[in-house]
Amino acid sequence: MKIILMMAMTADGIVARDSSHKADWTSKADKKAFIAETKKHGVIIMGETTYRTIGRPLPGRLNLVLTMEPEKRAAESVPGVLEFYRGSPAEVVAHLSGKGYQSAVLGGGPYTNASFLKAGLVDEVLITIEPKLFGNGMTFAKGQDLDVNLVYISSAPLGDNAVQIRYQVAK
Ligand SMILES: NC(=O)c1ccc[n+]([C@@H]2O[C@H](COP(=O)([O-])OP(=O)(O)OC[C@H]3O[C@@H](n4cnc5c(N)ncnc54)[C@H](OP(=O)(O)O)[C@@H]3O)[C@@H](O)[C@H]2O)c1
Repeated sequence: MKIILMMAMTADGIVARDSSHKADWTSKADKKAFIAETKKHGVIIMGETTYRTIGRPLPGRLNLVLTMEPEKRAAESVPGVLEFYRGSPAEVVAHLSGKGYQSAVLGGGPYTNASFLKAGLVDEVLITIEPKLFGNGMTFAKGQDLDVNLVYISSAPLGDNAVQIRYQVAK
């Protein structure tokens, strides 16, 4: 199964000011690109903290939210729309493959990104560079020492002064 890690970052490499910072600072162009990419694959994987900042499932795709306590979220779950799951990155991939998905977008946040990168389960990294500087904040992947090499695939202006870069993860 192919996993595409998709994130927006400032030109100084920040993805959020802190864990509770909503991703509402990104451009319309990035939001449009995010919707197109996630709908293409049909599923977005995200950590519980990121889901909390969004506060609702993104429509038209399966939102698979990773949490250590999925049992507590049973009442909120809507099969095929919003599902809560506990498992290692490898178990997440096996779970989605078992449902028939051939690819998925990993949509953050940094803690979850790092666990998938560490497990060697990310195939592509898709970054939007937004024309902003935050100075302090969270970087792309957190909580693991990583040594991941990327191979450039393509880049293109998205509009709104944003640039999208696509890399393949060297394996
Ligand atoms: N700029 C962007 O493109 C972008 C995109 C996404 C997110 N963000 C930002 O990132 C920030 C949040 O990131 P974060 O790193 O603090 O948190 P996160 O990665 O969104 O969520 C971490 C939580 O997810 C759960 N989790 C992760 N992997 C798991 C697994 N394998 N099994 C079970 N549970 C798992 C755990 O939740 P429990 O507490 O339930 O154990 C963990 O505490 C927010 O500010 C958000 O806005 C930015």
